[in-house]
Amino acid sequence: MLRIWGRQPLRGQVKISGAKNSALVIMAGALLCADDCHIRNVPSLVDVSRMGEILSALGVKLQRQGDTLEINASHIGQSKAPYELVSQLRASFFIIGPLLARLGMARVPLPGGCAIGARPVDLHVRGLQAMGADVQIEHGTVHAYLKGGKKRLQGARIYLDCPSVGATETLMMAATLAEGETIIENAAQEPEVVDLANFCRAMGARIRGAGTNTIVISGVPRLHSTDYSIIPDRIEAGTFLVAGAITRSEISLAPVVPDHLTAVIAKLRSIGADVVADAPNRLRLIPGQRHVATDIKTMPFPGFPTDMQAQFMALLTLSEGNSVISETVFENRLRHVAELNRMGADITVKNNIAIVRGVPMLSGAPVVATDLRASAALVLAGLAADGVTTIQSLQHLDRGYENLEGKLQGLGAKLCRVEADTEPNPVDAPNLPTVLS
Ligand code: EPZ
Repeated sequence: MLRIWGRQPLRGQVKISGAKNSALVIMAGALLCADDCHIRNVPSLVDVSRMGEILSALGVKLQRQGDTLEINASHIGQSKAPYELVSQLRASFFIIGPLLARLGMARVPLPGGCAIGARPVDLHVRGLQAMGADVQIEHGTVHAYLKGGKKRLQGARIYLDCPSVGATETLMMAATLAEGETIIENAAQEPEVVDLANFCRAMGARIRGAGTNTIVISGVPRLHSTDYSIIPDRIEAGTFLVAGAITRSEISLAPVVPDHLTAVIAKLRSIGADVVADAPNRLRLIPGQRHVATDIKTMPFPGFPTDMQAQFMALLTLSEGNSVISETVFENRLRHVAELNRMGADITVKNNIAIVRGVPMLSGAPVVATDLRASAALVLAGLAADGVTTIQSLQHLDRGYENLEGKLQGLGAKLCRVEADTEPNPVDAPNLPTVLS
C-alpha cells in the first residue's frame, strides 16, 4: 500500500525511464534475429521481467546488465508460450509474428481481456492470415502455421479497420522476413511503432513510412544483430508534467522527446499551465496561477493519448469549470472516476463520457487502484489532496512505472510504501511544512 501526505510542493528534476511500450514489443522483435541483440534504456518493470520470462521459456538467452538487455534468439527451442506466463502479460501476444516468421509456426494463448476492455486480437489474426498463415483458435490458444509446407510468409496489402498499435507492430515484425512486399494501411502512428521500426531497420529490415498511416515493408531472408537504445517513456513524462501542474510546482524532466507530447502539452497550456523546452531533450512545467477546465477526447497518435486520460482527469478535478472527457479508444477505461469521487471530486459518467466539475480541494482517502493508469491518477490526486491518501493494489503501478515513489520523493513529495494493515499514524507523518496557498 502507498501512503501519500498531500499538498507538498515539488521541485527539481526527474529522470524519465525508457518507454515500457517500446521495450515490450522490441523484446519480442529480438526473436526475429538469430544473433545477439543489445537493447539499452530498458526500464526495470514487472511487465518487462514477465516478457523476459516468456522469451526464456521459448529457449531465448537473456542477460540484463543495468538498463541493457542482451538477447540471443539464435536457438528458439519451441514455438509454444506457456499459458501461466502469457495470462499475466497481454503484450506477450507480440511473439506470434516473430515466431511465425522465424519458425513457420506459433502457438500462443489468446490474451484475455483486462480491466480496461475486451482487447481483441482479430486484426492481428486477420493480417497474419492475409500473409499466408493458417490460424485456428482452439481451447483458448491461437495456433498459427504456414500452409502447405511453405517456408515463409508472403507479403500482402493489409488495411486495418482501426489503427491498432499492437496489430501494426505484429504485422510489421512478421513482414520483415516475409517473401515480397507488405503494405499496412491505416497503420498506427505511435512513437513506439516508429521505435520498433527503427530497431528492425537497425537489424537490416527494410521498412518505410513508420509514423505515417501507411507502412511498406520489403521482406529480407534474415536479420543481423544490433545495439539499440529505446526512446524515453512519453506517458511517464506526461504523468510527471501533470504531477507538477496538480501540485502547482515548477519541475523539470529529462530525457524527453517533446514531439511525442504535443497533445498533452497543448492541453496543459489550455488549462493555464505552460511547458517550456529549456534544453533539446528537457521540459519544464510551469503551473498557472489558476487552472481552468478543458475538454479531452482520446484518439490514436497524434491525438490525445488514452494512456494519459486518467492522469489528466485527476488534474481537471481541481480546474475551475466543467471539463468533458471522452474516452474513444477503450470501452472501460473510466474506472478511476469512482475512486476520484471518493476523494471529493465531482465527476459523472454517461456513455463513456465523463463530466468533471472542478472543485476547490480534494481530500485524502483510502482508495483502490483498478488498472495501471488509474493507479497513476490516484497517486497524482493524493499529491494534491488535503490529508493522507492510501492506495491499495500497487501491483498495477509496478507493472508500468519504474520506481515512481522514489522519483516523486526525489522531487520533495511525502509518500512511502507500507504494509497494508498499518493505519495512518499521525506521529508517522513527516514534519510537514505548511504548504501551498
Ligand atoms: C497498446 O495497446 C498499448 N500497450 C496500450 O498501453 C495503449 O493504451 C494502446 O496501445 C493504445 O495506444 C502496449 O503497447 C503494450 P490497440 P494495444 O491495439 O496494442 C481495438 C498502457 O497503459 N483492437 O491500439 O492493445 C482495441 O479493442 C497500455 O501502457 C481491435 O478491435 O492497443 C482498442 O479498442 C494500456 N482488434 C483499440 O483497437 C485488434 O486486433 C486500440 O487498441 C486490436 C485492437
